[in-house]
Amino acid sequence: MTGHTMTPDIPASSTLAKDQSSTSTVPLLEARNVGRSFAQRGTGGLWRARQTQLAVDGVSLQIHPGEVVALVGESGSGKTTLGRMLLGLTAPSSGQVLFRGEDVSQLRGAAWQRFRREVQVVFQDTGGSLNPRHTIGQSVALPLRHNRGLDAAASAREVDALLEQVGLPPAHFRQRLPHELSGGQRQRVGIARALASQPAVIVADEPVSALDVSIRAQILRLMAELQRARGLAYLFITHDLGVVRALADRVLVMTGGRVVESGSADEVLERPQHAYTRRLLAATPVPDPARQRAD
Ligand SMILES: Nc1ncnc2c1ncn2[C@@H]1O[C@H](COP(=O)(O)OP(=O)(O)OP(=O)(O)O)[C@@H](O)[C@H]1O
Ligand SMILES: [Mg+2]
Repeated sequence: MTGHTMTPDIPASSTLAKDQSSTSTVPLLEARNVGRSFAQRGTGGLWRARQTQLAVDGVSLQIHPGEVVALVGESGSGKTTLGRMLLGLTAPSSGQVLFRGEDVSQLRGAAWQRFRREVQVVFQDTGGSLNPRHTIGQSVALPLRHNRGLDAAASAREVDALLEQVGLPPAHFRQRLPHELSGGQRQRVGIARALASQPAVIVADEPVSALDVSIRAQILRLMAELQRARGLAYLFITHDLGVVRALADRVLVMTGGRVVESGSADEVLERPQHAYTRRLLAATPVPDPARQRAD
């Protein structure tokens, strides 16, 4: 790890002062009974009866430093909505999101900046989230300048170090544009950009499901290596139970906006309690290349 952060540690010290005895047990990121409703789409004609839909319905979860939590569930079960609430991108309709023990909706100034820096995201479609007119170097440099306040020279050195770490030789990739890269290479850029902020936790929303099967293993291995090397925490949203087995410490299973089962990855995969989880397991052959990769 190179460089250092210039972000003042105000929120941390206030948390410490409040809760000195149990600092190590304060989760990095926590959802406390969060819910989110949306006005229902496509209820054509019935404009008077404006329906709302509970996308997330009273979910609680904790992510501790260095922990990999997998979030699985069928399409539309609320995984992305929950992830976006934990990232501060979608406001909860009820309940609270806490960052290092503090309600995210109350964070201001330096405390908010620290939250934005330490909680990063890797999207499924990195192609869509990279500015097509920015070179790879510029995309990775942006958080270095903004979130860490590095000057041009320090930021250029750090861009190269980050590209190196995600397996993109900087001399070859620094000046390229996103459309010149493969999907897997773009996802590596997405990971480098997330790492640039020196996050404590990354919310990865189906980070490999848009990629060719042959590339998925490489990206998952990279993410596993980075997690270990940097002591990162992940909220790993996935449909793939093989990924859960390979990467996750704990797993939460969502359906219909609720968590219906949670536990250690081994527990849940070996002895699923909920009918939904059993169906999911039956539908997914778990002996997966990811398993051998990670062992
Ligand atoms: N911005 C929005 N406006 C209206 N409805 C939304 C919005 N975002 C999500 N929803 C609805 O909330 C529910 C949960 O969606 P969400 O995207 O969180 O599910 P998901 O588990 O991530 O699904 P997938 O596995 O397909 O990505 C869905 O019914 C979806 O249509
Ligand atoms: Mg989703």
